[in-house]
Amino acid sequence: MEPIFDLRNVSYTYLRRFEALRDVTASFYAGEQVAILGANGSGKSTLLAILNALNYPTSGEFYAFGTPIKEEVFDTLEDNKFNRFFRTKVGFLFQNPDIQLFSSTVFDEIAFGPLQLDLPPDEVQKRTEDVIAMLGIENLQDRAPHMLSGGEKKKVCIASILSTNPDVLLLDEPTGGLDPRSQVWLIELIQNLSKCGKTIITATHDLDIVEQISTRALVVGEDHTIKVDADCASVMNNMDLLISANLVHRHKHRHGKLQHEHLHAHSREHDHVHGPGVA
Ligand SMILES: Nc1ncnc2c1ncn2[C@@H]1O[C@H](COP(=O)(O)OP(=O)(O)O)[C@@H](O)[C@H]1O
Ligand SMILES: [Mg+2]
Repeated sequence: MEPIFDLRNVSYTYLRRFEALRDVTASFYAGEQVAILGANGSGKSTLLAILNALNYPTSGEFYAFGTPIKEEVFDTLEDNKFNRFFRTKVGFLFQNPDIQLFSSTVFDEIAFGPLQLDLPPDEVQKRTEDVIAMLGIENLQDRAPHMLSGGEKKKVCIASILSTNPDVLLLDEPTGGLDPRSQVWLIELIQNLSKCGKTIITATHDLDIVEQISTRALVVGEDHTIKVDADCASVMNNMDLLISANLVHRHKHRHGKLQHEHLHAHSREHDHVHGPGVA
């Protein structure tokens, strides 16, 4: 089977100065659910931006659906046929909802994608209403997206992606800023989309969700290289790897009078008492 995304020795540097990815080689196949794991600043968002053809490799090659993706061939014309095909195939959830939202109402935000597909007006209306009902955000549909809470904004962003029914979903820190109930809701949504055969690639440093939403994981190190590309269970059991990638850290602290050392996932809050002089 041909990969849908194929990265060959891809490196990316911002402004010729800030290295974000180094020599990444990886393939992604239709119907897979893959987690991209890494500490803050490791390069997860940059990797997703390359997969979404928002950034082009500084060096190396990126192929999407068998087509080499380069600035010259991809983004030159609005009516570029491949560009259009790509944008209907792939939906991208930005880490920061404020970058994604631009319409004056939630309804318009969600209708934007279907409108771009030149669907008949009643079909646009129906798709938009269906997604609004599916996400249970009827109460938000006349509101201004930029006036919503962080979690509400995220839901609207997700709705605006789903309304075009893409085969591939690229999700950048999807649970970030969501309360526990919304996180559970989102994980269930991702699981249902997986069952429908969607390809879902999720960047996260939240180790608690990895095995729930993906079967394969790539770990990006702080040196911006891919440390491991393997099944989730083996990645999650590789404590040395998770520590070296700064996804888990050894933490010294006190429980009452007892001082000891143990491991923490970065995502977990803890309420232990920190005594004086404890690292
Ligand atoms: N627009 C930008 N300009 C300059 N450097 C950037 C920019 N975006 C990201 N970087 C740098 O690239 C590296 C990778 O960032 P990013 O892909 O956002 O990591 P992650 O999503 O894993 O936190 C970081 O060192 C970051 O500072
Ligand atoms: Mg990021």
